[in-house]
Amino acid sequence: VVPPVAGPELLGFTAVAASRTDGIVVPQGYTARAFLPWGTPLTGSYPAYLADATNSGADQEQQVGMHHDGMHFFPIDTRSGGDSSTEGLLVFNHEYIDNNLIHPNGIDTVPRIADEARKEIAAHGVSVAHIQQQADGSWALVNNSPFNRRITGATPMELAGPVRGSSKVVTKYSPDGSRTRGTLNNCGNGYTPWGTYLTCEENWAGYFANTDATKPREHSRYGVSGSNGRYFWETATPTADIYQRFNASTLAADASGDYRNEPNTFGWIVEIDPFNPDSVPQKRTALGRFGHEGVIFGKLEEGKPVVVYSGDDSTFEYIYKFVSSAPYYKNTAGGHLLNDGTLYVARFNEDGSGDWLPLDINNADFMAKAAAAGVSFADQADILLNTRLAADVAGATKMDRPEWGAVHPETGEVYFTLTNNTRRTDAQIDAPNPRANNATGHIIRWNEREAQSALAFDWDIFLLAGDVGTETPGTELTLTADNHLASPDGLWFDKNGLLWIQTDMSGSQQGEGPYGNNQMLVADPVTRQIKRFLVGPTDCEVTGISATPDMKTLFVNIQHPGDRSEPGNFTSNWPDGGNSRPRSATVIVTKDDGGVIGS
Ligand code: FEO
Ligand code: CA
Ligand code: CA
Ligand code: CA
Repeated sequence: VVPPVAGPELLGFTAVAASRTDGIVVPQGYTARAFLPWGTPLTGSYPAYLADATNSGADQEQQVGMHHDGMHFFPIDTRSGGDSSTEGLLVFNHEYIDNNLIHPNGIDTVPRIADEARKEIAAHGVSVAHIQQQADGSWALVNNSPFNRRITGATPMELAGPVRGSSKVVTKYSPDGSRTRGTLNNCGNGYTPWGTYLTCEENWAGYFANTDATKPREHSRYGVSGSNGRYFWETATPTADIYQRFNASTLAADASGDYRNEPNTFGWIVEIDPFNPDSVPQKRTALGRFGHEGVIFGKLEEGKPVVVYSGDDSTFEYIYKFVSSAPYYKNTAGGHLLNDGTLYVARFNEDGSGDWLPLDINNADFMAKAAAAGVSFADQADILLNTRLAADVAGATKMDRPEWGAVHPETGEVYFTLTNNTRRTDAQIDAPNPRANNATGHIIRWNEREAQSALAFDWDIFLLAGDVGTETPGTELTLTADNHLASPDGLWFDKNGLLWIQTDMSGSQQGEGPYGNNQMLVADPVTRQIKRFLVGPTDCEVTGISATPDMKTLFVNIQHPGDRSEPGNFTSNWPDGGNSRPRSATVIVTKDDGGVIGS
């Protein structure tokens, strides 16, 4: 299947150069404005942002969180089938926090101060912001809207799907294994055809500590720490259950219960209904437990299963596909479709074919492979809790850190970023991961054979990222100064069929490499014409993208500007300028002539 050509009216802008400025660079004829930065008052009593970072934990619970990531714009009339491009709900993730920026002077004490931990937990999660375009074309938050909402690392949630009620998710908080609190490390995102938001739990394992000599495989295979959580929340004083739960050690138990299973309630895709502010977020366990980067629906067909793709962003991990048991019908579609189905993992064969391998307790072939490997699974919940192990057993292809996926709106062709993998050796090169010491990453794509739910596919490599002159074998693509890039991460198809690519370089690659600051490019998937569209401020990552239905307002997130800051010594002052502390924020991009973004 060949996607339609994007059309000569698109990609007409002049590519911006790679650069290092502490600001947003967009092509001539476009304007970029920061919007809803960390700390913006959003709910409740709308506490003002204090530039010295002295806002309390309670304040942060009512303010936009830190480290914006995946994002989606829902037109305000989504539920009635409308497509407003001037009013809607902007829903966006907050992946993690920077201790040097969230408190006036960073942190220097363990045990942690409880209100600091409260603030940090509150700065995680998701924001729902009701926004409206103003007469002058700018956008503003609708203050006091009932839709404005913060979901944090402490918000009550339910477990849905096969893992609900499993003995391995029973905690002191939820003796029947049906509930948990909070979502953490929300990186990529997705959205459903029925108008809800999906947020992905990526590097959640690091938030927990389990100091037991022997850890269960549900902890060890995911990297739960043997010493402390990444922010030491488990040490917060005065002590409270909401902090102690981050200690998943046996010895942390008391007579009233324990949190040995708390990490098992993380690692999921979480569904949030932004149009119902009282809704309880649902962790959709049928989609598997891993370092979920993003989640993307395959092309929909009435009467056919829904298909959902998700990558596990960790070195040598996998790409997955969920196929619902029940068929999709527009009028009855809802979250129940994500509770029952089959989870598959990808095997990319050397000849350009591929297979989806089921991770299913009822599949004799899979269970035979498990038995041969000496691995036992008690039930489907056990398989899902140990998705990575199940994928090992199935014989899936170990990839160079799968990040976001994107599905072409017309053809259903699937693209995935593989951000980098410097640990791949010459002996580990294979066709889908063709470079050892892959410091710059690549983008792979495939077409399902026949239906989107097919169990076989055909793949090729769309682009090898790298410096000017880098070629993608088998194509005519050679990267130039207009489009050289490294560490592709965010990925999104707009409705016109253009593929937007965001980068997440870190360390020396960003600091001294040939690529300048992190950036966003846009590609025509047929011609492989690629142009750099946006360059972000100092020490940031560009991640998260959505647009109004008319494609005249583009929303992009800037995460962790001034990443290397120390208290009082900021490496970026974006977006407030002067000597201000840097703040993650959304950026609104418009075309000065009111035209379509990317034209
Ligand atoms: Fe949070 Fe895989 O980037
Ligand atoms: Ca990412
Ligand atoms: Ca990344
Ligand atoms: Ca990030």
